[in-house]
Amino acid sequence: MKLFDSQYFTYQNGEMFCEDLSVRTIAKEYGTPVYIYSKKFFTDKFTEFTNAFKDINHTIFFASKSNFNINVMKLFYDLGAGIDVNSGGELFRALKAGVDPKRMLLTGVGKTREEIKTGLELDIKIIKAESIQEVYTISEIAGQLGKTAEVALRVNPDVDAETHPYITTALAENKFGIDAKIAFDTYMECAKLPNIKLTGIDMHIGSQITKVSPFVEAVAKLNDLIEKLRNAGINIEHLDIGGGMGVTYNDETPFTPEQFADALIPLFEKSGCEIIFEPGRSLTANGGILLTETLYTKNNGVKNFIVVDGSMTDLLRPSIYGSYHHIQPTNLAETDDVIKADIVGPVCESGDFLAKNREIFKVNQGDLLAVMSAGAYGMTMASNYNARRRPPEILVDGDKHYVIRGRETYEHLLYDENIVEL
Ligand SMILES: Cc1ncc(COP(=O)(O)O)c(C=O)c1O
Repeated sequence: MKLFDSQYFTYQNGEMFCEDLSVRTIAKEYGTPVYIYSKKFFTDKFTEFTNAFKDINHTIFFASKSNFNINVMKLFYDLGAGIDVNSGGELFRALKAGVDPKRMLLTGVGKTREEIKTGLELDIKIIKAESIQEVYTISEIAGQLGKTAEVALRVNPDVDAETHPYITTALAENKFGIDAKIAFDTYMECAKLPNIKLTGIDMHIGSQITKVSPFVEAVAKLNDLIEKLRNAGINIEHLDIGGGMGVTYNDETPFTPEQFADALIPLFEKSGCEIIFEPGRSLTANGGILLTETLYTKNNGVKNFIVVDGSMTDLLRPSIYGSYHHIQPTNLAETDDVIKADIVGPVCESGDFLAKNREIFKVNQGDLLAVMSAGAYGMTMASNYNARRRPPEILVDGDKHYVIRGRETYEHLLYDENIVEL
């Protein structure tokens, strides 16, 4: 059985460590399921990314939807990132993390009036609009507040990001952005609106993209549009290419930051813009694991099942996208034979699985398993279905660790819910 190749989650004498800390000690202290993150991974990935683009004027806005723990946001912010927030809730979290709104982007296909108003009141750096009606709404609210809103339009460049259908976003059939064919006219119409300054152009073509070519195709299209807009008197200052840079979950070989930079820097230079990136997954996914304990093993005559205490309520990606996460023991000494099994959680849904038909070392009741690559879209998608408490998050730094979020209590599950007299 192949073990996931990571320099942040390694085996020492057969026992899994995150950096210099045994993950077993974390399970002992905080129980399972539990998310464990490597601070060094987050720091290294951010540094590699920004270094690859050091020769051009750029800013990385960490996409907090991938991991919105306020400590993770703060970590990237302290490294020099801005924060991309996609809702009032993410904005609130970013404020709690101490992020200056001037270093936030407000994104999202369906922002409410309240979210737009909050963004404007706080003087957020850029609001990214995804429809002409939204720009009218921003103009109206900015007028009421006596402000000028800096706005970028999200243009859908109609390129195929060649990724999972649920995470491709830039085909004409997707709900996001403004169709490339009408983008120029939309800019021209929005330019007439009061209290709006159109400073940017934006795209986000999908997630978990492993080839550079869709980005190149899309940026080339946006460059043409930028030139056309400048000729028409609209000075685009920021080119935001979104996130979407892919990672290795199984056997994918995504492009490196250097390959990304080599392919895109000539196009960025041509644009004459400040470049904005919104990476999420590439900065966080392989910096986290979900540690779970084997509750029971069984065979129903057709299949082996490993029933663990982690479930779709902790890590939803396998259930909704059929996503692959490597799953491996935390103690190699306890294992020898390889079996094929479904690794499933306690939730009462057949869709509650972490892996299907997976080759895995034979495990016994009580064995710990590490679900790899769980640092992005893990905890942020966790839910309370089946009245399950969401798991804690532990950040490891060398041999030290910090509880950056504790396990929910049963009281949390009843927040603001009371018996009423009927
Ligand atoms: C607008 C926008 N920006 C950035 C991201 C982050 O994408 P990723 O985590 O794939 O880098 C997303 C993800 O959905 C997004 O919708």
